[in-house]
Amino acid sequence: MSYLFPNYARKDIEFMKGSKNTLTDQAGQSYLDFTSGIGVMNLGYEVPELNEILAEQAKLLWHTPNLYENHLQEEVAEKLANGKDYISYFCNSGAEANEAAIKLARKATGRTKIITFTNSFHGRTYGAMSATGQSGIQESFQPLVPDFVYLPYNDIPSLEQALDMQTAAVMLELIQGEGGVIPADEEWIQKIVELCKNTRTLLIIDEIQTGIGRTGTLYAYETYQIEPDIFTLAKGLGNGIPVGAMLGKKALAEAFNPGSHGSTFGGNKLAMSVANKVVEQVNQSIFLQDVQEKSKQLFAGLEKLAEKSKKIQAVRGKGLMIGLELSDPETLNQIVNDLQINGLLVLKAGKTVLRLLPPLTITPTEIDCGLQILEKVFIEGEK
Ligand SMILES: Cc1ncc(COP(=O)(O)O)c(C=O)c1O
Repeated sequence: MSYLFPNYARKDIEFMKGSKNTLTDQAGQSYLDFTSGIGVMNLGYEVPELNEILAEQAKLLWHTPNLYENHLQEEVAEKLANGKDYISYFCNSGAEANEAAIKLARKATGRTKIITFTNSFHGRTYGAMSATGQSGIQESFQPLVPDFVYLPYNDIPSLEQALDMQTAAVMLELIQGEGGVIPADEEWIQKIVELCKNTRTLLIIDEIQTGIGRTGTLYAYETYQIEPDIFTLAKGLGNGIPVGAMLGKKALAEAFNPGSHGSTFGGNKLAMSVANKVVEQVNQSIFLQDVQEKSKQLFAGLEKLAEKSKKIQAVRGKGLMIGLELSDPETLNQIVNDLQINGLLVLKAGKTVLRLLPPLTITPTEIDCGLQILEKVFIEGEK
């Protein structure tokens, strides 16, 4: 018997070792990883600098309460601000970062209504789940946190109607990840920014999956030429060490006065030592340019594959966050399994999308290898 709650549908393999962009299971079989532990292991499984810094900090000091100064939090916060006027609050996960964002927005504006979008995913805690526009995820957990309004994604008329002077915030992912790798339209985002400005509504961008280099820039919002009032990070920030962050414009500082919000472990010295190094490594133009080049290579290969295979209806995404919309949703599980049998790990998103989130350190040779496995499963499987 298992001593664990059955809340995950687990596959019956266990990974025992990771090296670079490859995982090895208990039977010794190796897999090329196009999942990054669901967008976490952006720097892959073997980063000596991270091991060293973690070991050094572990020898020195693991944890101090947030009642004392923490120079590592200051260093990470400065790096995350990336030259802009953002300040940080640190926590341990994506859902917690979104909880902080929701609380900050309500307190700073004195308003309660928050607009989010259908098929969004913001986490599993009560606030984050209430923000998540998927009834399947909320089912059996009512009553939810009140005053969340769900609108269709990429739709301007519904937004014009709903966004008013009672709205505290509009909260969204610039590419809906769990919902099916759906990018936001440029025009829609510009409209949101304009309406938020007119009504003094805060814009919250959930960068938990899109941030830390995943889409080819440090943050996905950079490519839309916008600056959100608040944005949230987790996943890739610690490359496997649990850490989350909520960043907000300096003007919002007063709303989070002492005693308003907090976390025992948030910004712990072990997590901060690693996050500090992760951001330093990712936020280099040479690294991010390389991600963009590899993205072009992977997209080109996938588009060629989509031309040849009737099973793929569309290829979409940005950087190394890519979704293949399948023509027949019934085939999704089988394809994921066949790819695994052939040594390639991939993810699902929504009911119809095969999601690829390789580590940002994936090499051009590994991309070709992944494409060959995809070609084998999609094309040979059709014969
Ligand atoms: C966009 C987005 N927001 C929030 C979360 C929740 O993060 P966590 O699982 O760390 O709580 C996720 C996780 O998949 C996510 O993709």
